[in-house]
Amino acid sequence: MSEAAARAFPNIALVKYWGKRDTSLILPVAGSLSLTLDTYATTTTVRLDPDAAADSFTLNGVPGAAIPTQRVTRFLDLVRERAGSTARARVDSLSEIPTDAGLASSAAGFAALAVAAGAAYGLELDARALSRLARRGSGSAARSIIAGLAVWHAGDDAQSFAEPVRGPEFTMIILTLDRSAKRVSSRDAMVRTAHTSPFYDGWISSTAQTLDAALAACRADDFTALGLLTELHALRMHALIQSADPPIRYLKPASIAAFDRVEELRAAGLECYATADAGPNVVVIARPEDAVQVATELAVLGETRVVGPGPGATLLTDEAGLTDEVGLTDGAAG
Ligand code: DP6
Repeated sequence: MSEAAARAFPNIALVKYWGKRDTSLILPVAGSLSLTLDTYATTTTVRLDPDAAADSFTLNGVPGAAIPTQRVTRFLDLVRERAGSTARARVDSLSEIPTDAGLASSAAGFAALAVAAGAAYGLELDARALSRLARRGSGSAARSIIAGLAVWHAGDDAQSFAEPVRGPEFTMIILTLDRSAKRVSSRDAMVRTAHTSPFYDGWISSTAQTLDAALAACRADDFTALGLLTELHALRMHALIQSADPPIRYLKPASIAAFDRVEELRAAGLECYATADAGPNVVVIARPEDAVQVATELAVLGETRVVGPGPGATLLTDEAGLTDEVGLTDGAAG
């Protein structure tokens, strides 16, 4: 097939990925756990163009800037190497993530690109291979290959992939508090943290322990334990990031106010837990039956959106180029 399209969704980590032990292979210092969402899809089409001198990349119809285009080309180089092809490609990506929603787009973007490019260049890749490939674009993309709850294993190149996990049912409430672009990318901030934080070793060992505890909570179907670990781990990650030199502070007063409000809601008997990625916006998890009430309570702080667990990355074109949702969603990792 010389053309393929795929769709993938963002994910939000409960146990966070922060730090690489290999920046080229994108191997994390510890494993992580996330929920792939059912909202804000990225749909990407890859068309091989053997006559083209270079790859081209558009995002929502606009030619990509130099750095994102370079990341796409570097990613396609990996695919070409495996496929034994030198053909350049046109990559057109449509992202439903509002640019100012404060959600990272790289996870859905590289998960969709891995599936579409793999198919367009004729590679036969199962979910595990796709997760390993997506990882090379952006670490968190390894998890967006998988539907719903996913664990991404630390390990060597062969072992570092995401796979599905069974756990308690819950919903996420995305609370958008600040729409400005972040000043330091997660990629750069991870490096700075690793090089300068005196707490980095403690972060690595405690994250591995938190992941074990979170997976035990999943096995026990224990939403409370998973929620407590989620909030703890987010605050630890932000404490770590703030301890870099020069310090990086992603959380704003409004973010802290949201964590306070979530604590108050819990004290009042409405169970919910907060987390935040490398930015000021907060994501709250709650049992599905409480989600609307939690969102209503948080609406005074910012814009809320209730999102649920979503599918893994999906190929949208079959051999004949027809749109047909070929599921890679519930697949086992092997
Ligand atoms: C805070 O996956 O965007 O969202 O691998 O350098 O592309 P790269 O980083 P990226 O980092 C995500 C960091 C995080 C935590 C998480 O999603 O686990």
